[in-house]
Amino acid sequence: MRITILASIVVLVASQAFSTVGGGDVTLKSKGGDISFSHEVHVSGAGQKCTYCHDKLYTNSKKHKKVIMKEMQKGKSCGSCHNGKTAFSVKGDCAKCHKK
Ligand code: HEC
Ligand code: HEC
Ligand code: HEC
Repeated sequence: MRITILASIVVLVASQAFSTVGGGDVTLKSKGGDISFSHEVHVSGAGQKCTYCHDKLYTNSKKHKKVIMKEMQKGKSCGSCHNGKTAFSVKGDCAKCHKK
């Protein structure tokens, strides 16, 4: 599993180096308001490594594992960085992630 995803990431990096960054813009559906996750902001902007998020935290939108805010506030998923230290916290700034 891990090898397959890392291999496809390498292929994607090679083939998309001059177009979309990583998985592009991904929309996560949520009752709290949909969230638009930008690879460009995280990879090009914030300098985060593919391997930090893949596939320890995330696989792809089809195999996405639901995580609730309470878990994120304890450091899961987005909360692994959005903890008020590495990036703005999941305990506030709701509208930065959730669009109504
Ligand atoms: C900050 C975390 C983070 C980083 C860094 C990151 N990704 Fe992602 N990636 C995600 C999230 C979140 C998703 C959405 C899937 C999910 O929630 O499981 C995703 C999805 C993807 C997908 C699947 C897209 C889809 O629509 O299913 C690919 C391909 C991908 N990423 C490649 C990359 C590559 C290549 C890099 C490095 C250039 C990278 N990612 C860096 C978080 C990240
Ligand atoms: C760093 C981005 C981010 C911030 C900041 C954030 N959220 Fe979320 N939230 C998410 C993501 C991503 C999901 C969906 C997770 C999934 O599908 O796995 C989610 C899910 C939810 C859900 C539905 C699941 C649940 O926990 O019941 C609610 C409600 C919610 N957020 C409310 C909030 C509120 C209120 C705030 C502000 C205190 C907030 N969120 C801040 C990213 C964020
Ligand atoms: C590897 C660490 C990491 C993870 C995991 C991560 N982020 Fe971020 N994110 C950052 C950093 C660093 C920034 C830029 C600094 C800041 O804005 O505080 C950022 C910025 C953002 C921004 C601001 C974009 C802008 O235009 O200013 C949003 C929205 C966001 N992240 C959403 C998410 C969501 C949703 C998730 C989970 C699916 C997530 N992030 C997971 C590190 C991460």
